[in-house]
Amino acid sequence: MNFNKINNRKNTNSIKWDGHEKMNVPQDCLPMWVADMDFQTVPQVIEALTSLAQRGIYGYEFESNEYFQSVIGWMQRRHQWNIKKEWISTTPGVVSAIHACLMAFTQPGDAVMIQKPVYHPFSNSINRLNRKLINNALVEKDGHYGIDFENFENLIMQNHVKMFILCSPHNPVGRVWTEEELTRMADLCIRHQVLIVSDEIHMDFVFKPHRHHVLAGLKDHYQEHVITLTASSKTFNLAGLKLSNTIISNPALKRKYDAVYDDLSVHAGHTFGLVATQAAYDHGDRYVDEMVEYLHDNLQMTDAFFKEHCPKIKIIQPQGLYLIWVDFRGLGLKQRDLKEFLLKKAKLWLNDGVVFGKEGEGFQRINIAAPKTTIEKALNQLLSALKEENLC
Ligand SMILES: Cc1ncc(COP(=O)(O)O)c(C=O)c1O
Repeated sequence: MNFNKINNRKNTNSIKWDGHEKMNVPQDCLPMWVADMDFQTVPQVIEALTSLAQRGIYGYEFESNEYFQSVIGWMQRRHQWNIKKEWISTTPGVVSAIHACLMAFTQPGDAVMIQKPVYHPFSNSINRLNRKLINNALVEKDGHYGIDFENFENLIMQNHVKMFILCSPHNPVGRVWTEEELTRMADLCIRHQVLIVSDEIHMDFVFKPHRHHVLAGLKDHYQEHVITLTASSKTFNLAGLKLSNTIISNPALKRKYDAVYDDLSVHAGHTFGLVATQAAYDHGDRYVDEMVEYLHDNLQMTDAFFKEHCPKIKIIQPQGLYLIWVDFRGLGLKQRDLKEFLLKKAKLWLNDGVVFGKEGEGFQRINIAAPKTTIEKALNQLLSALKEENLC
């Protein structure tokens, strides 16, 4: 794959590239925000979709046995996780699946715990469904984020927490949780009868020597208590096809979960999503290996750039993901002024850190899943603006 290739995404109804007016962002801002990539997907996916498009009939369909085998194969090969066909529910996206979990397993007023700064739709769903949001904020020390386990357990006990939504790897801070951290969280949840919803959508983006551990696969009894949310969408740039896989081995939980989608008449997955996911999981191993290396190079290039030209801006060294969490606090700007500076002077459209919780004040999330020349352009725009404003 040639990840250096510039793909013109303008005028494709891309939220990232064409969403400026809708999101009230100046037209000339370079988009490095929402989590999709500027790379083309695996060639075999394009072939499979083309062949499906040529069929000309797009009626109701169910998941084929081959589809399930592809998902099972990927989890086994890439994550050493053995799952069964009966455990898989196809769903129209991970955010939708989180919402469905909240609807299936909690009631209004029930406490649901998350760890901010974290992917903001977690909070949105909890709040919209009138559940009580409990935040065990991550602890940042010397550029590294960790978990306050004592607070984790206290909050569970004090609030009778019913559900914990884990983000693993963690968006936006880039942590790939260790086996020890994961087992500590899971053991505490199980001890206090807290159901775990583990959003592992970024599972395929991990930089060596770190390793992603599927939580449900760590100990035999975990899978009874964990609902795992996965998707091919981030890994292969298929978000527009709206398909994810929810994996639940506990039949009682699975029945309750599936009932939510049955009620909404959202049964089997989207045909194009199924075909694309199957092809991606069957043929995408090399693509992912090469892409993760490319992303790591982008990360190193960005880090070296800040260190050389503006050491006041610091990257929280990510262990995975293609989203980097950047600490701009050294510039001494108020959050509003930082945002203004980035949009109006540097002409960059990033994700403002506070979107992920007040813990994100002074931070920005930058999407580096783009060709090197795009990243260089962004960094040079930033540097010129910093110099113009005497900020570095
Ligand atoms: C942690 C996390 N979960 C879920 C999603 C979105 O998933 P979907 O598009 O399948 O709803 C994202 C997208 O950035 C994400 O970062």
